[in-house]
Amino acid sequence: MEINETSFQIIADLLIKRTGQQLTQSRRWRIGTALSAVFKEYGVENAEQLVCVLADTKDPLLERKIVEGLLNNETYFFRDKPTFDQLPKDILPLLAERRKSSRRLRIWSAGCSTGQEPHSIAMDLDQQRARWADWSVEILGTDISQHALTIASRGLFSQFDVQRGLSILQTLQHFSEGNEGWQLSDNIRKRSRFMQHNILGRPPSPEKFDLILCRNVLLYFDNQTRNHVLDRLFSALAPDGFLMLGAGENMAGLSGRFSSSNGLLSTFEIASACTSFKSASTVLAHGDNPA
Ligand SMILES: C[S@@+](CC[C@H](N)C(=O)[O-])C[C@H]1O[C@@H](n2cnc3c(N)ncnc32)[C@H](O)[C@@H]1O
Repeated sequence: MEINETSFQIIADLLIKRTGQQLTQSRRWRIGTALSAVFKEYGVENAEQLVCVLADTKDPLLERKIVEGLLNNETYFFRDKPTFDQLPKDILPLLAERRKSSRRLRIWSAGCSTGQEPHSIAMDLDQQRARWADWSVEILGTDISQHALTIASRGLFSQFDVQRGLSILQTLQHFSEGNEGWQLSDNIRKRSRFMQHNILGRPPSPEKFDLILCRNVLLYFDNQTRNHVLDRLFSALAPDGFLMLGAGENMAGLSGRFSSSNGLLSTFEIASACTSFKSASTVLAHGDNPA
């Protein structure tokens, strides 16, 4: 469906203002399909008419629905297996060693979409339940999309969702099949807490995280926004914690605050020059954004 330049710009500006995500010209063709449910709900036929409704009503709910419709929520269990396999094999054992005196572990999946990422970590932890038995382990999943978070916390997935990334054994171990789909067991589901959060804003908790996953989220930001988000993540990460990005993402030309973790794919640690870093507030003074 064609969309005229003015309507495209209004929609692209809305998306960037709310999320930092760029709606590139190459994604222009997707707008009609992505917003088809919103067109139907508001009784309009195309993006031009929808933009007119928005201009007339300035309805914040409509703004939110447009933004949600344009977000890319693609995810699946144990996404990018070679990277994800490092969690039980390398990263969790390292963190178990580093946190053995506090016996506390805090994990943040930033931009978790419909929850497959935090639920996969919960399954890894369940596989190692003896190691973590008397630990306090928190997994926080956040996303800007409330719709995605509702699915994440409900833990009800389609046949297609469970087929992507899970073995038959994992499916049978952690899910039960019902009329509506595959229900994740409470044992796994309740290990994660979900909350709406805009990654452009301050971290979701003043306490540091030992592991942050921010995978396939930075892709649609420009470099300035990426650096801004990396500053935010830096301020949220424990000095000896890990940051994991998506398999195709790296820090080339970006924040000097992180360096690659030796031998680990797509995984970063705070660069040694920054380990004695100042308080989070000092870091955020640069390009702080109250969003
Ligand atoms: C492609 S999904 C990635 C999901 C998961 N991390 C993975 O790699 O499978 C990107 C997610 O980032 C979320 N997102 C985009 N902009 C955001 C923002 N400004 N704040 C928080 N979440 C955002 C989207 O809603 C979407 O669910």
